[in-house]
Amino acid sequence: MTGGTRSRRVLLLLLLIGVAAPAASGVVTDGLLPNGDFEQGPDASQMNGTRVMSPNSIPHWEISGFVEYIVSGQKQDDMILPVPEGARAVRLGNDATIRQLLSVTRKKTYSITFSAARTCAQAEKLNVSVGPESGVLPIQTVYTSSGWDSYSYAFRARHSTVWLTIHNPGVEEDPACGPLIDFIAINTLNPPRREKGNILRNGDFEEGPFIFPDTAWGALVPPLDEDDVSPLPGWMVMSDTKVVKYVDAAHHAVPQGARAVELVAGREAALLQEVPTTPGRWYRLSFSVGDAGNGCAAPLAVEAYAGRATARVQYESRGMGGSRRASLEFAAAANPTRVVFQSYNHHMKPDGTLCGPVLDDVALVSVRRRARRLLL
Ligand SMILES: *[C@@H]1O[C@H](CO)[C@@H](O)[C@H](O)[C@H]1NC(C)=O
Ligand SMILES: *[C@@H]1O[C@H](CO)[C@@H](O)[C@H](O)[C@H]1NC(C)=O
Repeated sequence: MTGGTRSRRVLLLLLLIGVAAPAASGVVTDGLLPNGDFEQGPDASQMNGTRVMSPNSIPHWEISGFVEYIVSGQKQDDMILPVPEGARAVRLGNDATIRQLLSVTRKKTYSITFSAARTCAQAEKLNVSVGPESGVLPIQTVYTSSGWDSYSYAFRARHSTVWLTIHNPGVEEDPACGPLIDFIAINTLNPPRREKGNILRNGDFEEGPFIFPDTAWGALVPPLDEDDVSPLPGWMVMSDTKVVKYVDAAHHAVPQGARAVELVAGREAALLQEVPTTPGRWYRLSFSVGDAGNGCAAPLAVEAYAGRATARVQYESRGMGGSRRASLEFAAAANPTRVVFQSYNHHMKPDGTLCGPVLDDVALVSVRRRARRLLL
């Protein structure tokens, strides 16, 4: 019996066990996926150099195409691949795919977070898919000085078992060229809540993608198409290739609660939500603008748009955390109204990575116009 046949049989057995005893093996739990850090690797006999030759040789994963298994310290040409000390990762070369079968709860919404690092110069992309849904994540911009960024992707489960697939659609001269992938995690997303009186959903950003507790760089929320499931419930990112950064209070200054959003891409990315409004009625949009306490010392500003109203809210950041409240009143011109936020400018930290204002606690309430008249 060849190694390939044996491992295929083992996989088949695992699949059968998974199907026969879903209660025992259970639905996937929030956090790292089984071997989501690739610490379990292939046998030497299943590799040629760094290339993984057998589709089932990385435990819990199935691969195809040019996939390499990289341990820290390994080089490409003269460049050391940026795998953290003691860690292991996979590298997705030309047309390479890794996938894992997940047990999930039907109709629930999940978010996937994974870390990726570019290793080649060209515009790299990753196609993440779950069942029939897929999204192409642009990864050419690097947002950390380590080179590793965590990306998020969300899906609504149509079935109780789904394949999560990460594919590098690139076709480069050097077949090994492609991003490193490590730390793949999942979390359940609860339906976006509306706080009492707040017409916006998830205005405090407390619901969102998984952030690895050991990483200091949050999770990036990529641009989405209109009908995609958002990893940041209620909210959508509009951009060609840029993202917003979802940050945690453990590693950042967050105006309130445990999570907030850092607008890291200037006017190249907009964070927006569509809210139900009554044309002609007055509303007040209020929000916190601050800095993440990550050294982004600059005159920051957030631009907010709602209906035909706009506001530019300045915030003088010393890069040490802090925030202020701001608000904008407007008469709805339509139903729904798009509420949009973006950073007025691009900013950089001393290490050369992009940063920007932090946004938190966004609330939209209906206000009586008479009260406003009395003020005038
Ligand atoms: C291993 O890779 C080298 C270089 O690409 C190739 O020449 C060789 O034939 C490969 N060996 C096997 C057993 O596939
Ligand atoms: C991404 O992958 C999915 C599933 O394999 C595929 O249907 C889709 O066409 C791919 N998209 C792109 C842009 O390659």
